[in-house]
This record gives sequence, structure tokens and C-alpha cells, in this order.
Amino acid sequence: MPQLATEVLDPPALERAAELLRAGSLVAFPTETVYGLGADATNGTAVAKVYEAKGRPAFNPLIVHVPSLVEAEQLAIFDDTARALAQAFWPGPVSLVVPLKPDHGLSSLVTAGLDTVAIRVPAQPLAVALLRAVGRPVAAPSANPSGAISPTTAAHVLDGLGGRIDAVLDGGPCAVGLESTILRASPPALLRPGGLPLEAVEAALGTPLTHDTSPDTPSAPGQLSSHYAPDAMVLLNQSDGPLMVGFGKVSGTRNLSPSGDLREAAANLFAMLRELDAMPGDVIHVAPIPMTGLGLAINDRLARAAAPRG
Ligand code: TXA
Ligand code: MG
Repeated sequence: MPQLATEVLDPPALERAAELLRAGSLVAFPTETVYGLGADATNGTAVAKVYEAKGRPAFNPLIVHVPSLVEAEQLAIFDDTARALAQAFWPGPVSLVVPLKPDHGLSSLVTAGLDTVAIRVPAQPLAVALLRAVGRPVAAPSANPSGAISPTTAAHVLDGLGGRIDAVLDGGPCAVGLESTILRASPPALLRPGGLPLEAVEAALGTPLTHDTSPDTPSAPGQLSSHYAPDAMVLLNQSDGPLMVGFGKVSGTRNLSPSGDLREAAANLFAMLRELDAMPGDVIHVAPIPMTGLGLAINDRLARAAAPRG
């Protein structure tokens, strides 16, 4: 594909970012989870460029970003359960899979031909302002080459996709640092653990959540087993090693959170994996991480980073 001069835009250049998106260009932008690679979701050519820039298999559908539930309801059907989840957790780090409305106007490439769509209302103020300025739904997968570690800074985006996208809007580091939790809205099911802890969803629903995260389930969110992978091999549940990701009292070359705070660990995870990957050594050892709260999603990403490479 042709080499592009990727522009780095500061927050005051938000209108420029919106214009580029409306013109069918690819613009990466910050959300509170990770940076997304945005394209006008109603423009098939723009969406096709997302798949091309990422090297993403076209059967893996994209998340559609809108500024509020009002815009989401123009695209998809929200029954009482879906609306309750949206009202409880939007804006925030959760994507809801809901049935498409007949006149949704989205490119069929966004949904990979499914009759459902994953929709998200991000909480990052710059993202919301951008979505309002664009005035159209924005399809955005994480702004990394397919299978690689998701970006939590504009510099990470440029590392992976510089020259392949038109611009990146720099909003600083992402506060959450893990991709959104993906829920099928009705009946509720967990499709991908993420930045919203499962416990919060279960508390809102008042019932335990079904998990539907098997790699072979067609409705599951593209859970290709090797993903989020650094170049180095990753070994989990280690107590020491030359290249070591520590947690709590297990110290390391980097420590995700010396105090054992899972939110801090989530926010540090991808950046620290990148830093260790850039150091000499072929194996990254990772300390055990508890399976509660954001630990579920942290362990999910680490398990994929450690999975056999295809
Ligand atoms: O936090 C996030 O979710 C970030 C930011 C940019 O919003 N986006 C993100 O997108 O992680 P991506 O493309 O890396 O992951 C989207 C996941 C994919 O695994 C895809 O299979 C799933 O969402 N997905 C999209 N539409 C779906 C649908 N209709 N049914 C089930 N899964 C769907
Ligand atoms: Mg991704």
C-alpha cells in the first residue's frame, strides 16, 4: 500500500481530525481504553482501508463508536436489557453487541455481514468531542497491526501504523489501558473481558453472566488465540527471569503495580510489554496476576500474548 505521511494532531486540531474522517481518511484517536483506528463507518472504502492498514482478516467485525445512546439507537435495536446496560455503563469501557436496524446505513464491512453490531460510547472527552464533530458513526478497531499489542499512546500508534494511516490525534496515555469489555446485550453474555470488570456488570444485572468467549464461537469477538503478542516469547506465572514483568511483591524489570493495584496494572500492561520487547532477550517472564476485577482481562491478554504463534 502507498506510504502516507502520518500527521500528528494535537487536541486543538480536532476539527482537522473530524474533516479527515468525513473525507474517508484513517485517523487514530485516543479513547480511555486504547487508541482506535477510526474510519467513517458509513463509507465502505474508508472501512476497507482499516482492514488493509491493520492487515486484519475481513471476517473480524469492527466496533462502531458514537457520542451517546441517542446515536446508538439510530443504528441498532436496544431492548430493555440493552438500554439498562447502556445507561449503567455508557460512556465507558464497554461495547454492546445489539441487533442492527434495517436502515442502519453502516458499511457491511463494519459488521462483516453479521446482523448485529458492536457499539461503544467512549468516556474520553477528546473522543466524544471528535465523534460529535464527525457527526457520523466511526468504526475503530485498536490502532495496531492485527495480532500485535494494542496502543495506549500516540507514539505506539506511530510505531505500528506510521506511514499506513493519515493522522493520529494525540490525547496522551489511555487511562484504562485495556480494550473494552464486549457484552452481548440480550440475553446478556460476556464475549470479551476488558476494561469494565465483570463484577460490575453482574452487580448491575443482578445475575452471573454467561461467558461466550470460545475461539470457535461465531458470535465471539474475533478471539484469534495468538493476539496482543510482542516479538519475544511470553511465559506466564513466573517468579523471576532476566526480562521480568512483576506485579505486587514479585518484582521485575518492570512492575505493573508494586502495590498490587489491578487498575494501575491494566494501565501499565501494554506499554511495559512493549518496553520489555524492545530490550535484548527473547523471553518475557510474567508474574502471577489475580483473576479478580481487571485481572480477568489482564490474564486474558497475557494468555493470548503467550499463545502459540500461528
Ligand atoms: O476498547 C476497545 O474496544 C477498542 C477501542 C478502540 O474502542 N477497540 C477494539 O477493537 O478493541 P478491536 O477491533 O480490536 O476489537 C473488536 C472486537 C473484535 O474482536 C470483534 O470480533 C468484536 O469486537 N466484534 C465486533 N462486532 C461484533 C459483533 N457484531 N459480534 C461479536 N463481536 C463483535
Ligand atoms: Mg484489537
